[in-house]
Amino acid sequence: MIKNLAVIGAGQMGAGIALVCAVNGYEVTLNDIDQKFIDSGLERNKKWLDRQVSKERMTQQEADEIWNRMTGEVDLQKAVSEKDMVIEAIIENLDIKKDVWTKIGNYAPEHAIFGSNTSSLSITEMAVASGRPEKFLGTHFFNPPVIMKIIEFIKGYSTSQETLETAIEFGKSLGMKTVIAAEAPGFIVNRILIPMLNEAYFALQEGVATKEDIDLAVKMGLNHPMGPLTLSDFIGLDTILYIAEYLHKELGEDKYRPCPLLRKMVRAGKLGRKTGEGFYKYD
Ligand SMILES: NC(=O)c1ccc[n+]([C@@H]2O[C@H](COP(=O)([O-])OP(=O)(O)OC[C@H]3O[C@@H](n4cnc5c(N)ncnc54)[C@H](O)[C@@H]3O)[C@@H](O)[C@H]2O)c1
Repeated sequence: MIKNLAVIGAGQMGAGIALVCAVNGYEVTLNDIDQKFIDSGLERNKKWLDRQVSKERMTQQEADEIWNRMTGEVDLQKAVSEKDMVIEAIIENLDIKKDVWTKIGNYAPEHAIFGSNTSSLSITEMAVASGRPEKFLGTHFFNPPVIMKIIEFIKGYSTSQETLETAIEFGKSLGMKTVIAAEAPGFIVNRILIPMLNEAYFALQEGVATKEDIDLAVKMGLNHPMGPLTLSDFIGLDTILYIAEYLHKELGEDKYRPCPLLRKMVRAGKLGRKTGEGFYKYD
Protein backbone atom coordinates (compact mmCIF):
# COMPACT_ATOMS: atom_id res chain seq x y z
CA MET A 1 0.00 0.00 0.00
CA ILE A 2 1.26 3.42 -0.95
CA LYS A 3 1.23 6.20 1.64
CA ASN A 4 3.91 8.56 0.41
CA LEU A 5 5.85 9.11 -2.76
CA ALA A 6 8.58 11.09 -4.48
CA VAL A 7 8.09 12.74 -7.86
CA ILE A 8 11.30 13.35 -9.79
CA GLY A 9 11.14 16.33 -12.17
CA ALA A 10 9.16 19.42 -11.14
CA GLY A 11 8.14 20.57 -14.61
CA GLN A 12 4.60 20.73 -16.00
CA MET A 13 3.91 17.04 -15.39
CA GLY A 14 5.95 16.38 -12.24
CA ALA A 15 4.44 19.31 -10.35
CA GLY A 16 1.00 18.35 -11.66
CA ILE A 17 1.39 14.73 -10.52
CA ALA A 18 2.56 15.93 -7.09
CA LEU A 19 -0.53 18.13 -6.89
CA VAL A 20 -3.07 15.44 -7.77
CA CYS A 21 -1.41 13.08 -5.27
CA ALA A 22 -1.46 15.70 -2.48
CA VAL A 23 -5.10 16.56 -3.26
CA ASN A 24 -5.91 12.89 -2.71
CA GLY A 25 -4.16 12.63 0.65
CA TYR A 26 -0.62 11.50 -0.22
CA GLU A 27 2.56 13.02 1.21
CA VAL A 28 4.69 13.99 -1.79
CA THR A 29 8.31 15.09 -2.13
CA LEU A 30 9.16 16.90 -5.35
CA ASN A 31 12.72 16.72 -6.72
CA ASP A 32 14.54 18.42 -9.63
CA ILE A 33 18.12 19.22 -10.61
CA ASP A 34 17.90 22.75 -9.22
CA GLN A 35 15.96 24.26 -6.32
CA LYS A 36 14.59 26.97 -8.64
CA PHE A 37 12.66 24.37 -10.69
CA ILE A 38 11.20 22.86 -7.49
CA ASP A 39 10.21 26.31 -6.26
CA SER A 40 8.48 27.22 -9.51
CA GLY A 41 6.64 23.85 -9.64
CA LEU A 42 5.41 24.32 -6.07
CA GLU A 43 4.51 27.94 -6.81
CA ARG A 44 2.26 26.84 -9.72
CA ASN A 45 0.56 24.38 -7.38
CA LYS A 46 0.10 27.13 -4.78
CA LYS A 47 -1.57 29.35 -7.38
CA TRP A 48 -3.90 26.51 -8.37
CA LEU A 49 -4.88 26.00 -4.70
CA ASP A 50 -5.44 29.75 -4.23
CA ARG A 51 -7.75 29.75 -7.29
CA GLN A 52 -9.76 26.84 -5.88
CA VAL A 53 -10.25 28.76 -2.62
CA SER A 54 -11.19 32.01 -4.40
CA LYS A 55 -13.73 30.10 -6.54
CA GLU A 56 -15.06 28.45 -3.35
CA ARG A 57 -14.24 24.95 -4.62
CA MET A 58 -12.34 24.23 -1.39
CA THR A 59 -11.88 25.90 1.97
CA GLN A 60 -8.68 27.66 3.00
CA GLN A 61 -8.10 24.91 5.55
CA GLU A 62 -8.37 22.18 2.88
CA ALA A 63 -5.98 24.09 0.62
CA ASP A 64 -3.50 24.53 3.50
CA GLU A 65 -3.63 20.82 4.28
CA ILE A 66 -2.96 19.91 0.65
CA TRP A 67 -0.13 22.46 0.49
CA ASN A 68 1.45 21.04 3.65
CA ARG A 69 1.53 17.57 2.09
CA MET A 70 3.90 18.80 -0.69
CA THR A 71 7.59 19.35 0.03
CA GLY A 72 10.64 19.92 -2.14
CA GLU A 73 14.02 18.17 -1.86
CA VAL A 74 16.84 18.82 -4.32
CA ASP A 75 18.95 15.89 -3.01
CA LEU A 76 17.72 12.82 -4.93
CA GLN A 77 18.86 10.35 -2.26
CA LYS A 78 16.96 12.19 0.46
CA ALA A 79 13.93 12.69 -1.81
CA VAL A 80 13.40 8.95 -2.44
CA SER A 81 14.41 7.59 0.96
CA GLU A 82 11.56 5.99 2.93
CA LYS A 83 9.13 6.33 0.00
CA ASP A 84 6.61 3.68 -1.07
CA MET A 85 6.60 4.84 -4.68
CA VAL A 86 8.81 6.94 -6.96
CA ILE A 87 7.37 8.54 -10.10
CA GLU A 88 9.80 10.03 -12.59
CA ALA A 89 8.66 12.89 -14.84
CA ILE A 90 11.93 14.34 -16.14
CA ILE A 91 12.87 15.30 -19.69
CA GLU A 92 11.84 12.77 -22.41
CA ASN A 93 15.35 11.43 -23.05
CA LEU A 94 16.05 7.74 -22.54
CA ASP A 95 19.75 8.04 -21.60
CA ILE A 96 19.06 10.71 -18.97
CA LYS A 97 16.08 8.77 -17.61
CA LYS A 98 18.12 5.54 -17.37
CA ASP A 99 20.88 7.35 -15.51
CA VAL A 100 18.40 8.80 -13.00
CA TRP A 101 16.68 5.41 -12.57
CA THR A 102 20.00 3.72 -11.76
CA LYS A 103 20.50 6.26 -8.97
CA ILE A 104 16.91 5.87 -7.71
CA GLY A 105 17.36 2.07 -7.68
CA ASN A 106 20.40 2.52 -5.43
CA TYR A 107 18.70 4.93 -3.05
CA ALA A 108 15.02 3.90 -2.69
CA PRO A 109 13.82 1.39 -0.06
CA GLU A 110 13.48 -2.24 -1.16
CA HIS A 111 9.67 -2.30 -1.10
CA ALA A 112 9.19 0.85 -3.25
CA ILE A 113 7.55 0.59 -6.65
CA PHE A 114 8.76 2.70 -9.57
CA GLY A 115 6.76 4.48 -12.29
CA SER A 116 7.97 6.47 -15.27
CA ASN A 117 5.71 9.13 -16.75
CA THR A 118 7.41 8.76 -20.13
CA SER A 119 5.16 9.48 -23.10
CA SER A 120 6.69 6.85 -25.35
CA LEU A 121 10.04 5.41 -24.27
CA SER A 122 10.91 1.82 -23.40
CA ILE A 123 9.71 0.88 -19.92
CA THR A 124 11.82 -2.28 -20.06
CA GLU A 125 15.06 -0.37 -20.68
CA MET A 126 14.42 1.96 -17.74
CA ALA A 127 13.28 -0.96 -15.59
CA VAL A 128 16.55 -2.79 -16.19
CA ALA A 129 18.52 0.39 -15.39
CA SER A 130 16.66 0.69 -12.07
CA GLY A 131 17.87 -2.77 -10.99
CA ARG A 132 14.35 -3.92 -10.02
CA PRO A 133 12.45 -4.56 -13.23
CA GLU A 134 9.62 -6.47 -11.55
CA LYS A 135 8.71 -3.40 -9.48
CA PHE A 136 8.75 -1.02 -12.45
CA LEU A 137 5.98 0.11 -14.80
CA GLY A 138 4.89 3.07 -16.92
CA THR A 139 2.56 5.50 -15.14
CA HIS A 140 1.47 7.82 -17.92
CA PHE A 141 -0.56 10.74 -16.59
CA PHE A 142 -2.13 13.34 -18.87
CA ASN A 143 -1.76 17.10 -18.80
CA PRO A 144 -2.87 18.57 -16.41
CA PRO A 145 -3.11 15.56 -14.08
CA VAL A 146 -5.48 17.29 -11.68
CA ILE A 147 -8.07 17.61 -14.50
CA MET A 148 -7.35 14.64 -16.80
CA LYS A 149 -8.77 11.65 -14.97
CA ILE A 150 -6.97 8.80 -16.70
CA ILE A 151 -3.66 6.99 -16.34
CA GLU A 152 -2.17 4.62 -18.88
CA PHE A 153 -0.23 1.89 -17.06
CA ILE A 154 2.42 0.21 -19.19
CA LYS A 155 3.83 -3.18 -18.41
CA GLY A 156 7.51 -3.71 -19.06
CA TYR A 157 8.89 -7.14 -19.91
CA SER A 158 9.30 -8.07 -16.23
CA THR A 159 6.64 -5.98 -14.46
CA SER A 160 5.02 -8.22 -11.82
CA GLN A 161 1.27 -8.64 -11.44
CA GLU A 162 1.62 -7.42 -7.84
CA THR A 163 3.24 -4.16 -9.00
CA LEU A 164 0.50 -3.65 -11.59
CA GLU A 165 -2.25 -4.28 -9.03
CA THR A 166 -0.65 -1.88 -6.52
CA ALA A 167 -0.45 0.77 -9.24
CA ILE A 168 -4.07 0.28 -10.31
CA GLU A 169 -5.21 0.62 -6.71
CA PHE A 170 -3.10 3.79 -6.41
CA GLY A 171 -4.62 5.18 -9.65
CA LYS A 172 -8.13 4.53 -8.40
CA SER A 173 -7.33 6.26 -5.11
CA LEU A 174 -6.58 9.38 -7.20
CA GLY A 175 -10.06 9.18 -8.71
CA MET A 176 -8.60 8.08 -12.06
CA LYS A 177 -9.76 5.63 -14.69
CA THR A 178 -6.92 3.32 -15.66
CA VAL A 179 -6.00 1.48 -18.85
CA ILE A 180 -3.26 -1.08 -19.36
CA ALA A 181 -0.97 -1.12 -22.37
CA ALA A 182 1.77 -3.51 -23.34
CA GLU A 183 5.12 -1.91 -23.99
CA ALA A 184 5.10 -0.47 -27.51
CA PRO A 185 6.40 2.92 -28.71
CA GLY A 186 3.87 5.61 -27.74
CA PHE A 187 1.66 3.07 -25.91
CA ILE A 188 -2.00 3.78 -26.80
CA VAL A 189 -2.61 7.51 -26.81
CA ASN A 190 0.65 8.90 -28.21
CA ARG A 191 0.81 6.21 -30.88
CA ILE A 192 -2.39 7.78 -32.21
CA LEU A 193 -1.93 11.42 -31.17
CA ILE A 194 1.63 12.18 -32.32
CA PRO A 195 1.10 11.24 -36.01
CA MET A 196 -2.05 13.41 -35.96
CA LEU A 197 -0.20 16.42 -34.51
CA ASN A 198 2.69 15.87 -36.92
CA GLU A 199 0.26 15.88 -39.86
CA ALA A 200 -1.12 19.23 -38.65
CA TYR A 201 2.43 20.69 -38.80
CA PHE A 202 2.87 19.38 -42.37
CA ALA A 203 -0.48 20.95 -43.30
CA LEU A 204 0.66 24.29 -41.85
CA GLN A 205 4.11 24.03 -43.46
CA GLU A 206 2.57 23.28 -46.87
CA GLY A 207 0.15 26.21 -46.60
CA VAL A 208 -2.96 24.04 -46.59
CA ALA A 209 -4.54 26.52 -44.15
CA THR A 210 -3.68 29.08 -41.48
CA LYS A 211 -2.87 27.87 -37.96
CA GLU A 212 -6.15 29.33 -36.71
CA ASP A 213 -8.17 27.50 -39.37
CA ILE A 214 -6.36 24.20 -38.80
CA ASP A 215 -7.20 24.44 -35.11
CA LEU A 216 -10.78 25.56 -35.67
CA ALA A 217 -11.46 22.86 -38.29
CA VAL A 218 -10.23 20.05 -36.04
CA LYS A 219 -11.86 21.47 -32.93
CA MET A 220 -15.30 21.93 -34.47
CA GLY A 221 -15.19 19.27 -37.19
CA LEU A 222 -13.86 16.47 -35.00
CA ASN A 223 -15.35 17.72 -31.74
CA HIS A 224 -11.95 17.91 -30.03
CA PRO A 225 -11.68 20.23 -27.00
CA MET A 226 -8.81 22.10 -28.69
CA GLY A 227 -7.06 22.15 -32.07
CA PRO A 228 -3.77 20.28 -32.69
CA LEU A 229 -1.55 23.39 -32.68
CA THR A 230 -3.03 24.75 -29.45
CA LEU A 231 -2.66 21.29 -27.91
CA SER A 232 0.97 21.12 -29.07
CA ASP A 233 1.72 24.39 -27.29
CA PHE A 234 0.25 22.88 -24.12
CA ILE A 235 2.29 19.68 -24.35
CA GLY A 236 5.60 21.35 -25.32
CA LEU A 237 7.13 21.04 -28.79
CA ASP A 238 10.40 19.60 -27.45
CA THR A 239 8.50 16.77 -25.79
CA ILE A 240 6.54 16.11 -29.01
CA LEU A 241 9.75 16.05 -31.05
CA TYR A 242 11.37 13.53 -28.69
CA ILE A 243 8.33 11.28 -28.97
CA ALA A 244 8.07 11.68 -32.75
CA GLU A 245 11.76 10.83 -33.20
CA TYR A 246 11.37 7.80 -30.97
CA LEU A 247 8.28 6.52 -32.83
CA HIS A 248 10.13 7.02 -36.13
CA LYS A 249 13.23 5.18 -34.93
CA GLU A 250 11.38 2.30 -33.26
CA LEU A 251 8.60 1.76 -35.81
CA GLY A 252 10.82 2.54 -38.77
CA GLU A 253 8.21 3.86 -41.16
CA ASP A 254 8.30 7.18 -43.04
CA LYS A 255 4.84 8.08 -41.86
CA TYR A 256 6.34 8.79 -38.41
CA ARG A 257 8.99 11.22 -39.77
CA PRO A 258 8.93 14.44 -37.64
CA CYS A 259 7.87 17.47 -39.67
CA PRO A 260 10.80 19.87 -40.41
CA LEU A 261 8.71 22.78 -39.09
CA LEU A 262 8.57 21.07 -35.67
CA ARG A 263 12.38 20.67 -35.65
CA LYS A 264 12.88 24.27 -36.68
CA MET A 265 10.61 25.59 -33.93
CA VAL A 266 12.33 23.48 -31.26
CA ARG A 267 15.74 24.74 -32.45
CA ALA A 268 14.41 28.30 -32.19
CA GLY A 269 13.33 27.67 -28.58
CA LYS A 270 9.64 28.16 -29.45
CA LEU A 271 8.48 25.29 -27.27
CA GLY A 272 4.92 26.44 -26.53
CA ARG A 273 3.35 27.82 -23.38
CA LYS A 274 6.33 26.99 -21.18
CA THR A 275 8.59 29.37 -23.15
CA GLY A 276 5.88 31.97 -23.88
CA GLU A 277 5.71 31.14 -27.59
CA GLY A 278 5.01 28.15 -29.80
CA PHE A 279 2.47 28.22 -32.59
CA TYR A 280 0.87 31.07 -30.60
CA LYS A 281 2.21 33.73 -28.22
CA TYR A 282 1.46 33.71 -24.47
CA ASP A 283 1.89 36.36 -21.78
N1 LIG B 1 3.79 17.67 -21.35
C1 LIG B 1 2.86 16.76 -21.45
O1 LIG B 1 1.71 17.02 -21.87
C2 LIG B 1 3.15 15.34 -21.02
C3 LIG B 1 2.09 14.45 -20.85
C4 LIG B 1 2.35 13.15 -20.39
C5 LIG B 1 3.67 12.76 -20.17
N2 LIG B 1 4.69 13.66 -20.36
C6 LIG B 1 6.06 13.20 -20.05
O2 LIG B 1 6.40 13.69 -18.75
C7 LIG B 1 7.80 13.92 -18.68
C8 LIG B 1 8.05 15.36 -18.27
O3 LIG B 1 7.45 16.22 -19.22
P1 LIG B 1 7.12 17.75 -18.86
O4 LIG B 1 6.17 18.22 -19.90
O5 LIG B 1 6.79 17.87 -17.42
O6 LIG B 1 8.57 18.43 -19.13
P2 LIG B 1 9.15 19.79 -18.52
O7 LIG B 1 10.19 20.23 -19.50
O8 LIG B 1 8.05 20.73 -18.15
O9 LIG B 1 9.84 19.31 -17.15
C9 LIG B 1 10.91 18.43 -17.09
C10 LIG B 1 11.63 18.69 -15.75
O10 LIG B 1 12.59 17.65 -15.55
C11 LIG B 1 13.69 18.26 -14.91
N3 LIG B 1 14.86 17.38 -15.04
C12 LIG B 1 15.64 17.18 -16.12
N4 LIG B 1 16.61 16.30 -15.82
C13 LIG B 1 16.43 15.96 -14.52
C14 LIG B 1 17.11 15.11 -13.62
N5 LIG B 1 18.20 14.44 -14.01
N6 LIG B 1 16.64 14.98 -12.34
C15 LIG B 1 15.54 15.66 -11.93
N7 LIG B 1 14.86 16.50 -12.76
C16 LIG B 1 15.31 16.64 -14.02
C17 LIG B 1 13.84 19.59 -15.62
O11 LIG B 1 14.66 20.49 -14.88
C18 LIG B 1 12.38 20.03 -15.72
O12 LIG B 1 11.98 20.77 -14.58
C19 LIG B 1 8.37 13.54 -20.05
O13 LIG B 1 8.79 12.20 -20.00
C20 LIG B 1 7.16 13.71 -20.96
O14 LIG B 1 7.26 12.93 -22.13
C21 LIG B 1 4.47 14.93 -20.77
